[in-house]
Amino acid sequence: MAGTSKGGLVREAAKARRRAVAPWSKFKVGAALLSRSGQVVTGANVESASYGLSCCAERVALFQALTSGLRGFAAIAVVAQVRGGPMPCGACRQLLREYAPSAVVWIADSRALKSVREFPVRRLLPEAFVSVPKSRAR
Ligand code: THU
Repeated sequence: MAGTSKGGLVREAAKARRRAVAPWSKFKVGAALLSRSGQVVTGANVESASYGLSCCAERVALFQALTSGLRGFAAIAVVAQVRGGPMPCGACRQLLREYAPSAVVWIADSRALKSVREFPVRRLLPEAFVSVPKSRAR
């Protein structure tokens, strides 16, 4: 299936990036999430005039995948025009840690898609908050 290799997933993220809605920052980001079952779900960042409401490409892809019923992810590719590729923000790291803890993150500059850096999600957010302690959940 298209996009299930590292290069394929990065290319899917680059394609999704073209659909970014980033009139304020002009910084277009694309993401492609690969489920363990081999499905690819893409997303791109969407911005608001009220800047704080904007949503990153990673979360758009993750929410789309989760609400399509997918669970269990092997990798997410993220592409933007920035040297070395775009590192996910803290909010995205938290959500990836919760819903894609075993995934690897593949990062690439849109001008150099063959140069891919890899980071395990667990390494991007060590010592993460993942649930309310049972004793407090009343
Ligand atoms: N952004 C992403 O979509 N993903 C990242 O990893 C970093 C930042 C977006 C959010 C905002 O629309 C724009 O990039 C500038 O911060």
